[in-house]
Amino acid sequence: MFQKPGSLSKAAFGVKFDGQQQQQHHGTAAAAAEPAAKRPKNGLPVESVRRELLYLVESHATVVVVGETGCGKTTQIPRFLHEAGWTADGYQVVCTQPRRVAAVSIAQRVADEMGVAVGTTVGYGVRFEDASNQATTRIKYVTDGLLLREMMDDPLLTKYSVIMVDEAHERSLATDTLLGLLKKVQRRRPDLRLVISSATLEVDRLVAFFDSSTVRGKAAAAAAAGGGGAPSRTPAVVSIPGRVYPVQHGARQSSSSSGSSSGRRWRGATGTAVVSIPGRVYPVQVHYLLDNCSDYVQAAVQTVVDIHREDVPGDVLVFLTGQEEVESAVRMLDEEARRLARSRLQYKLMAAPMYAGLPGAQQRLALEPAARGVRKVVVATNIAETSLTIEGIVYVVDCCFVKQRAYNPIVGLESLLVAPTSKASCMQRAGRAGRVRPGHAFRLCTEESWQQLLPKASVPEMQRSDLAGLLLQLKALGIDNIMRFDWLAPPPAEAAVRGLELLHALGALDGDAKLTPSTGTLLAELPLEPQLGAALLAAATRFGCCQELLTLAGMLSVPAVWASPAAVGGKRALEEAKAKFAAAEGDLVAFLNVHRAWLEHGKSHRWSSRNGIHQHGMLRAAEVSQQLCRKLKRMGLDTNSSCEGDVDKVLKAVTAGLFMNAAQFDHTEYDPRASSDAGSNVYRLLRHMQPGRPLKLRIHASSVLARTRPQLLLFLRCQQNDEGWYEMQAVTAVEPDWLTELAPGVFQKL
Ligand code: CDP
Ligand code: MG
Repeated sequence: MFQKPGSLSKAAFGVKFDGQQQQQHHGTAAAAAEPAAKRPKNGLPVESVRRELLYLVESHATVVVVGETGCGKTTQIPRFLHEAGWTADGYQVVCTQPRRVAAVSIAQRVADEMGVAVGTTVGYGVRFEDASNQATTRIKYVTDGLLLREMMDDPLLTKYSVIMVDEAHERSLATDTLLGLLKKVQRRRPDLRLVISSATLEVDRLVAFFDSSTVRGKAAAAAAAGGGGAPSRTPAVVSIPGRVYPVQHGARQSSSSSGSSSGRRWRGATGTAVVSIPGRVYPVQVHYLLDNCSDYVQAAVQTVVDIHREDVPGDVLVFLTGQEEVESAVRMLDEEARRLARSRLQYKLMAAPMYAGLPGAQQRLALEPAARGVRKVVVATNIAETSLTIEGIVYVVDCCFVKQRAYNPIVGLESLLVAPTSKASCMQRAGRAGRVRPGHAFRLCTEESWQQLLPKASVPEMQRSDLAGLLLQLKALGIDNIMRFDWLAPPPAEAAVRGLELLHALGALDGDAKLTPSTGTLLAELPLEPQLGAALLAAATRFGCCQELLTLAGMLSVPAVWASPAAVGGKRALEEAKAKFAAAEGDLVAFLNVHRAWLEHGKSHRWSSRNGIHQHGMLRAAEVSQQLCRKLKRMGLDTNSSCEGDVDKVLKAVTAGLFMNAAQFDHTEYDPRASSDAGSNVYRLLRHMQPGRPLKLRIHASSVLARTRPQLLLFLRCQQNDEGWYEMQAVTAVEPDWLTELAPGVFQKL
């Protein structure tokens, strides 16, 4: 299936591509020449720059750290800072992650390394889950979104002495925004230090961005002039190729904090420095398919089997796009493993899934080293691309696709879309194979397709997201003119306008685009998408069904409440299980049915597993509901109301939030003879009925309404398939009158 490696020597990783790859190649050579005595104690390359790094943090406002994945940035740098005294006097060092699963698992890892329990000295915070303690936690890992939320209570983030923004090159929506906000905070808090970790790709942009702040920032300039620890005329960028600077331990001990607006003990600093961690990476040989495959899950499994049959040691990391693909590949590999167990191979094949919604215990199976004589095959989504390091990987199998957010600015609709990933991301994935020894990466497409179809770099999330939630938060932080905000890269104006329109329609903004005191401020405080938040507020204040909407908000905020098809014995079994809870009104009422039955059965794990319910998801959902409930109470709202079985109340509250996502059955496309789903499952976005090329909407097969097809419905999310269909999920049938009654500004009676 793949070209013979020999014929591909030119395509070998590290030779063929741009500077980044070349650098990796050089890294290898350097590693080979490195004398044993100079090797860092714990073997991680970051140890070798510890002193320089601490010196630069001491003397510069911002330090950009560049280094290969796995060199120890995330796990070690916060600890270095802690050990160097940055967490004295009750201060914390915080490190942000674009992914929740990374924040949790890294905190666990660092706590293990330091011999403490998570939640004590080392903690984490992610949406709806806080494992930290203000009194004892010194190092905290959080999602970028959570730090953004923390700014609403404490805009200057005063409890942190150093903020490390990790994986900045990923350009997630929240990280990009945080960078702009932190730059503003720096001007008010010259004592604050930022450490920003990034892949080589984005370094110049980051340095230019922060450098302009330190030159322009009045407070920062004053701090430098006022005799802070930093020299006032430092060159903006200090690049240190391995030179050792003395660490000035005295600098932080002075209590004269002239220039520091918040009265810190620490001196102000300006300027931006770059630390490049010398890599130790082995070359990775890249293989392409001779012909493109039609089913990359199948092709991935076959490739793993081929690798396994070679019978040489080395674990495998497979990149697929989502949970369903991962689980189906794991199932297929389990079967293959049983078959292969009969052959006389030295190794046993063991497949382990890895994706965002996977419970912690199962994640550890993927992260921990395999037993002797076992070849571990980790089947992952792109969370294993940079945020998580999995040891022992020698082979990478890459489907070259990724599931990501996409945004249609014409209609203002966000969806999840499986699309070819970027060349940069493929190279990153391939690099995962070169950590222990020379490795191999198998790309499941032809070299020609790879060259022609994949974009060079991924598009930042800011360019392909619904911005309503973000804009709402920025408004709450007092940033009114979004287009004049100092962005790393500004969002598309069209998307910003759509976001503002949605917020206006929800009543969160007034005619002058100012936050409304009633809805806007409350909505900004809720850690939910604005539309779901608006439904919850409507339930509490207008429709007397707060309990039900709290339940729903919880269930809709966790990755899954239905078990995976694999757990219940296939797709059909899951459909049968779902049918027991189905409701003519749709998925949301079905969720309420599930919840009621779950309570009636005493939240029993056994009952859940027999009924196709994901117990872990239900428990998490219940926790989320409780947290939201506390939040509403703090806002002074009555949370006790319940609809007592009158589901129309619930549906009206839902309509009050989701009306922009109303879709109407399209009779013109109805074909009574069509036996397949196509042709009779076509919807149109109601607020976009004008002629032209309408969106192709249909109900996702996972919905309990997938077969009944109501005339008018609302959906919470949608996913785009490869034929361009937007498939609606969490779907609910509604009455047309409700739309005109609850969103008169958007829908008028005909
Ligand atoms: O952030 P960076 O990619 O530079 O590396 P890291 O996440 O700090 O990981 C440093 C090293 O810790 C990795 O090379 C792994 O050897 C190890 N590690 C691990 O074994 N298990 C984890 N859950 C996290 C890290
Ligand atoms: Mg990292």
